[in-house]
Amino acid sequence: MKDYIKIDEWKIIEEGFDPHHNKISESIFSLGNGRMGQRANFEEAYSGETLPGNYVAGVYYNDKTRVGWWKNGYPEYFSKVLNAANWIGIDILIDGEQLDLAKCEVSHFRRELNMKAGYLQRNFEAKNSAGKIVEVEAIRFCSMTDDEAGAVKYTITPKNFSGALTVTPFIDGDVVNQDANYDEKFWDEVAKECWEGGCYVQMRTKKTGFDVATGMQFRVLQNGQEIKPAGEVIQKEKYAGTKIQVQAKQNEPVTIIKYAANLSSQNYKVDELVTNLKATLTRVNGKGFDTMLTEQAAAWAEKWKHNDVVIEGDASAQQAIRFNIFQLNQTYTGEDDRLNIGPKGFTGEKYGGVTYWDTEAYCVPFYLSTAEQKVTKNLLLYRYKQLDKAYENAAMLGFGNGAALYPMVSINGIECHNEWEITFEELHRNGAIAYAIFNYVRYTGDEPYLVDYGLEVLIGIARFWSQRVSWSAQRNKYVMLGITGPNEYENNVNNNWYTNTLASWCMQYTIQIMEKVKTTDADKYKQLLTKLNFNEEQETEKFNNIIENMYYPYDEQHKVFMQQDGYLDKEQLLVKDLPAADRPLNQKWSWDRILRSCFIKQADVLQGIYFFEDKYDLDTIRRNFDFYEPRTVHESSLSPCLHAILAAKLGDEARAYEFYLRTSRLDLDDYNNDTEDGCHITSMAGTWMSVVEGFGGMRVRDGKLSFQPFLPGKWISFSFHVGFRGSLLNVKVSKQGVQIKNLSAIETTVLIKDKEYAVTANSEIVIA
Ligand code: BGC
Repeated sequence: MKDYIKIDEWKIIEEGFDPHHNKISESIFSLGNGRMGQRANFEEAYSGETLPGNYVAGVYYNDKTRVGWWKNGYPEYFSKVLNAANWIGIDILIDGEQLDLAKCEVSHFRRELNMKAGYLQRNFEAKNSAGKIVEVEAIRFCSMTDDEAGAVKYTITPKNFSGALTVTPFIDGDVVNQDANYDEKFWDEVAKECWEGGCYVQMRTKKTGFDVATGMQFRVLQNGQEIKPAGEVIQKEKYAGTKIQVQAKQNEPVTIIKYAANLSSQNYKVDELVTNLKATLTRVNGKGFDTMLTEQAAAWAEKWKHNDVVIEGDASAQQAIRFNIFQLNQTYTGEDDRLNIGPKGFTGEKYGGVTYWDTEAYCVPFYLSTAEQKVTKNLLLYRYKQLDKAYENAAMLGFGNGAALYPMVSINGIECHNEWEITFEELHRNGAIAYAIFNYVRYTGDEPYLVDYGLEVLIGIARFWSQRVSWSAQRNKYVMLGITGPNEYENNVNNNWYTNTLASWCMQYTIQIMEKVKTTDADKYKQLLTKLNFNEEQETEKFNNIIENMYYPYDEQHKVFMQQDGYLDKEQLLVKDLPAADRPLNQKWSWDRILRSCFIKQADVLQGIYFFEDKYDLDTIRRNFDFYEPRTVHESSLSPCLHAILAAKLGDEARAYEFYLRTSRLDLDDYNNDTEDGCHITSMAGTWMSVVEGFGGMRVRDGKLSFQPFLPGKWISFSFHVGFRGSLLNVKVSKQGVQIKNLSAIETTVLIKDKEYAVTANSEIVIA
């Protein structure tokens, strides 16, 4: 745990240069615009500890899997959203000596992420080995308006000398992934070119064949006046830049403005990439840095209008929630149904930038409430478009007849995990995808989605479950063997309660949606059944039979759902009895010891109770919460938020708040000592859920938003925005009660503590 980030309601601030924090800060201060993103690496050279990272959404490499002993069914490769060309780079020489903070005396260092306006600023003063002092201010952003473009304004001022300053703005495609399985480079150069004031490098990914053209156009100003010094073109393999000599004068700033763009062959024909890249560079250069920055602030203001959460009376909590929302908006904007949300977004290499169940189980609720409907719809369509691959994944494992098994880890629909027992056997992801469809339709009322896409996915998923269960003559029930639940601290278990419950629900929901579609659009329904070769009578009978006869492990003594058949065979210990030196278990204990222990990595039975809470009375929820919470170590970032929501539901306000703190400042305070790998982007959606669904108690009930709010003791008030079926609401909870402002022209009805209220267009209600 660290606490070097300064508290500010709209900014993330680091003061003073501590190289030990650099990789952590590179993650925290990351930038992105949904189309591309980058870690907060320095523009100038840095020979200290750093993880360089520039990422282009959807551009990946298939890195051959590395396993000791190959078995049938192992994925051939792990897909990685790969480190792409560095477009921020500006090399600086002061009288021939390279500016490198690892080799300078650094003072007045300040890094600031302005979340309100969406840019990163860095200021410092550095003294090199020759005693020459420069002051630097660097501002940069990934444009939300021109999402293929970004800009850097880098100002360097000699403080105690006049002399030769050499600046080289460049594009460098000669980059590596630190997590490459075989230390290979993933890019080949295709072309490069330099012209007056600019250049580009076009690279192609090996194996996957994505082309990305990365270019820049720059300007140089001295003391505020543009200068046009003759530049020397530098071209090396995968690299292009222009070296410029400036006779710098003491206290006269030299500014390099660099406009950059990344265009990929996902969106352009390869032979049209460069023309379009040059056009983009000309356009943004024409706009100018200040206009781009103004547009950036306006784009962010628009985002905040729809999703700001305001907490009065707790600046640290305020900063944290905004940071979570900011990063989510930087990661995914929902413009493109080929893109998804990697657990680390654009902030690091871990998890390869690919899609996990995190999207459906955690991110969907956030985007449903804070973005236009199409944003979540695109997340759903992403899976719809990969349905063929889900059939293939299932077929590879021996399932047939249109069974669909979505991958646990994937970018292109093909399973690419690299840990069989843990990741592969987490079949529950298939259920999360069905649950997201349910959640989307429940929230938006978009029933046509079910007709056009949803039902097809549901049938594939239901068919998979109906084949994956097996009949136990001994129990006289359907069972599910060889499973890993969300709790990855026990693998290959039998009858994971959550998975059995989810599988049954998927089949039940599929039958329900079949009935609905049959009545709303009989023709399309018939066409779909024909397309899928679905034998309605036989297959629904099979689903119903499984639903009625599914086995759910239950413990009579504790009166709780049993996480899996063998859970109570384990020695029952509590987390509070674990010595601090043993935590986190995944860094201190052997894997064997973890698997034998009763300690739970993340919500598992409680994940099921969260999904299907209406099925359980409060006593059942309380008994299960009281049993599982003390055994949960929360070593997945996805865990505390669900416990916060359930604690809030049970009226345990203190614990709800405690879990909230744990999730919301996870990265800012480097709680798990792993922020240097990247930020926990998908769990940030969980943070938002713990405020809105936890403290706000928001649920959808019969097509209406319902709130059961409480105010954490430390706060004066909190408020959040939610969009719902065309209306935009601001919900404020304070000691005075609940105020709901309808900021839209659409009347809506809400429930507050189970009573219905109409909120007419552009009006507000206050309920004490
Ligand atoms: C969690 C998984 C999650 C993955 C990616 C793991 O540590 O246990 O549930 O999908 O991280 O966030």
